[in-house]
Amino acid sequence: MGREASLREALLREGAPERHFGEHAHGWRDVWVYAVVACLFILLVSMGGPAQPFLLLPFFMRGKIQVLVTGFEPFGDLTTNPAQLVAAHLASEGCKAGVCITAMHLPVNRSGVETVADALSQSPSNSPWDAIVHLGYESVSKGLRVEIAAANLLASDHRSPSAPGWSADVPCNTTGTEFEPIDPEAPCLLATTAPLDRIDLPLPMSPDYPQPLELWSRDAGTYYCNEIFYRTLLAVHRGHLRPRSHHAVLLPVLFVHLPPTSFSSVETTSGFIWKLIARITKI
Ligand SMILES: *[C@@H]1O[C@H](CO)[C@@H](O)[C@H](O)[C@H]1NC(C)=O
Ligand SMILES: *[C@@H]1O[C@H](CO)[C@@H](O)[C@H](O)[C@H]1NC(C)=O
Repeated sequence: MGREASLREALLREGAPERHFGEHAHGWRDVWVYAVVACLFILLVSMGGPAQPFLLLPFFMRGKIQVLVTGFEPFGDLTTNPAQLVAAHLASEGCKAGVCITAMHLPVNRSGVETVADALSQSPSNSPWDAIVHLGYESVSKGLRVEIAAANLLASDHRSPSAPGWSADVPCNTTGTEFEPIDPEAPCLLATTAPLDRIDLPLPMSPDYPQPLELWSRDAGTYYCNEIFYRTLLAVHRGHLRPRSHHAVLLPVLFVHLPPTSFSSVETTSGFIWKLIARITKI
């Protein structure tokens, strides 16, 4: 399945019926709301023609926060990828507290890491989402790593991820190494656009969840995890993209590295990611 197909699938899912939590069943209150909307519609058509009522659409759509969560598919010897499982788990919970999550699974290759940046480049000023959270798997990780920046560094399948010559201490110097930039015109590092002041780690978890270890990370590595984070951030900066429905200056983009499920179950990790999302989208 190509990236267009998975994007289309994700967009379809976005438009799929949502499960609303904590809402009452249809009652008289809803009848009143429909009656008022119908009156407004008739009033606007009579004032300005059939296109006029659609001016109200952004107002009604503003209600729910839309968050895209991407997870990489299994690669190498993996048969499952915790990133894909967590993204799917979050999306399966529907809309909670006014936040709706769409999951997108991406192959661990160049088309996978370009999918979201390409979609963003096609949206002129407002993104279709209010925040984007990319999830990736890190086999040696003992906990959750919230990445604070991405480096302008092209992933390669032919280079060992631990190839010498790259260091987060001197991130811009690729002289004499096998490393190449993603975009030679772009900055060496891009910081996450998520409002970090709202993420006071460690987040308080419920008593049965162990606190995740390894919270902040300043090195997203040299593979596709770093590359997707960089490409999406670059698309946000280049397009001056704002969230769909709130007023942050730039669309929040976050990357979180996940440990094996033996360290943190899909449910535990999902709980953590959900809390991060609630914080970065709080208006
Ligand atoms: C990436 O992987 C997907 C799924 O396996 C495949 O369809 C696509 O052609 C691959 N793209 C590249 C650039 O390797
Ligand atoms: C960059 O790395 C090369 C090779 O290790 C070294 O010779 C050079 O001095 C470095 N440049 C800077 C500005 O640190």
